[in-house]
Amino acid sequence: MLTGKKILLGITGGIAAYKSAYLVRLLKKAGAEVRVLMSDAAKQFVQPLTFATLSQNPVYTDFFNPENGEWHSHVKLALWADLYIVAPATANSIAKMAHGIADNLLLTTCLSARCPIMIAPAMDLDMYSNPATQDNLATLRSRGYLVAEAGEGLLASGLSGKGRMAEPEEIMDEVVRFFAGNGSMRGRRILITAGPTREKIDPVRFISNYSTGKMGYAIAEELASRGAEVLLVSGPVQVTAHNKRITLIPVTTAEEMYTQCVEQFSGCDGAVMSAAVADFTPADTANSKIKKTGDEMLLRLVPTKDIAAALGKMKTGKQFLAGFALETDNEMQNAQKKLESKNFDFIVLNSLKDKGAGFGYDTNKVTIVSRSKGVVSYDLKAKTLVAKDIADQIEEEFTQKSAV
Ligand code: C5P
Repeated sequence: MLTGKKILLGITGGIAAYKSAYLVRLLKKAGAEVRVLMSDAAKQFVQPLTFATLSQNPVYTDFFNPENGEWHSHVKLALWADLYIVAPATANSIAKMAHGIADNLLLTTCLSARCPIMIAPAMDLDMYSNPATQDNLATLRSRGYLVAEAGEGLLASGLSGKGRMAEPEEIMDEVVRFFAGNGSMRGRRILITAGPTREKIDPVRFISNYSTGKMGYAIAEELASRGAEVLLVSGPVQVTAHNKRITLIPVTTAEEMYTQCVEQFSGCDGAVMSAAVADFTPADTANSKIKKTGDEMLLRLVPTKDIAAALGKMKTGKQFLAGFALETDNEMQNAQKKLESKNFDFIVLNSLKDKGAGFGYDTNKVTIVSRSKGVVSYDLKAKTLVAKDIADQIEEEFTQKSAV
């Protein structure tokens, strides 16, 4: 089930650490390679030797080996793993993760990790329900951390309530589910546009918008994690793509984005247009900086090419095309119209009226309008989780198209 998968297991200082010994056993039995990291407090509960024996690998606890000075690179460990599980994750370590604190090897590896991180919270019921812990968990979720939900029952304190670490079998189910989603898009090639465009006025000025590219990059990561090859045509953004299956094609203007997309689309199985492309560009770009004269200045704008509409015309019966609609008024009507005019198979509607949705936020609240399923509204959630809903809709499109 997990043959060849590389799993890093971080163990923090909770009594549930003893259950993690069994988790290592289950992971190994399923074929995974396991390396274990322990915090100092975790060693008070279970000896590293237990985990070294079960994982058949040395256990990492310090930044370097005090006997021979060998450096344990958190960066290397984080790059090695396909998944980093922290189980048990104590309230203290969860708080540190949420705030970027890196005061031991286990936490430093969290900050360096490029792979997804799954945490299994384990603590007393009052610590669990404390707003500080709940806020920290929400922060981590909004950053895409996977959470193996704590269970209810008898706790080590003698009290009963929510806070027990999920059972090793339950964590195992989550791990298997995580990897099962992985290969479903293998062999697919998908074009994604993301970020804003910049339309040059003169060498130092441009017209742009507030798009950060977070949504488009999250979609790219999700599709790549499912095995797709992704061509990411991106305007200037601060976010970076991590997955090796993502090929970044950086562009600046709407015209450059158009040229790249039209060139690449025929070699792809579909495209997601999540870029906030400028609708207008200056008719002329000045070669030198425009001087202030004291007079008013008129800037003549001409329309840019509609990339989505162009791909909509090129689209074959085997390809899907999806777009976004960010509306301030008559959202649903406009989204339906766009679905037709651009020949989209589905459109993701987000409204600026929804708190926490749209430009810059890490969260989004969307409604997907598709020809296959009609109108489906989703709750406000992390953009990384919205990306999963969009990826599921793309899988649905592939199923529909292969059935025709
Ligand atoms: O027409 P409107 O700009 O509202 O449509 C938004 C959708 O069209 C988005 O998916 C956006 O990426 C795409 N679009 C495009 N090229 C343009 C303008 C918008 O691909 N020039």
